Amino acid sequence: MGEDSRTVEARAPRLSFTEMTEIMLPQHSNAIGTVFGGTVMAWIDVCGSITAGRHCQRTAVTAAVDDLVFLAPIRVGDIVVLKGRVNAAFHTSVEVEVTVEIEHRVSQERRMCVQALMTFVAVDAAGRPTPVPPLLPMDEDDARRHKEAQRRRDARLAKKR
Ligand SMILES: CC(C)(COP(=O)(O)OP(=O)(O)OC[C@H]1O[C@@H](n2cnc3c(N)ncnc32)[C@H](O)[C@@H]1OP(=O)(O)O)[C@@H](O)C(=O)NCCC(=O)NCCS
Repeated sequence: MGEDSRTVEARAPRLSFTEMTEIMLPQHSNAIGTVFGGTVMAWIDVCGSITAGRHCQRTAVTAAVDDLVFLAPIRVGDIVVLKGRVNAAFHTSVEVEVTVEIEHRVSQERRMCVQALMTFVAVDAAGRPTPVPPLLPMDEDDARRHKEAQRRRDARLAKKR
């Protein structure tokens, strides 16, 4: 698919939904056997970047990480599942939520470990911000996420000013 196939039409969140699975290896750990936070942050940035890039259909750079909370420890041997979804698309930026869960090896039940909200900006070949397709909320949950993201954006931009 070439650059001419990019769309300016609104895109549903499912089109950019991203799931990544990792395993926490000894080289990812800190001195007490839990994951080194920077490793998880790098995975989150990769997952968020793929999600944003899928929505924008071009490279999107990380502009801000507003909220990143480690809720529970991840240990060596754990299977780690990251999910990225676009909450809202603005003019040249998108808000992406990335969640990180541990998957139990036997039951495959998942437990939430980390949640992050990030802003990515779509850029052209020269690194200049460029317009993104609108997001098309498909259900009540999508609409709620969109509304909340809009509120956060207003607060974020007020803080930047
Ligand atoms: C992100 C970047 C492209 C924004 O460039 P800029 O000249 O500030 O662009 P603008 O002021 O025109 O803003 C462009 C968009 O970025 C958003 N933005 C800029 N700074 C932001 C911030 N601190 N938080 C959230 N959004 C921000 C603006 O709201 C705007 O979005 P909109 O068009 O949807 O309203 C630029 O700062 C950059 O290249 N930063 C480095 C990115 C990078 O290298 N990331 C990799 C991680 S090290």
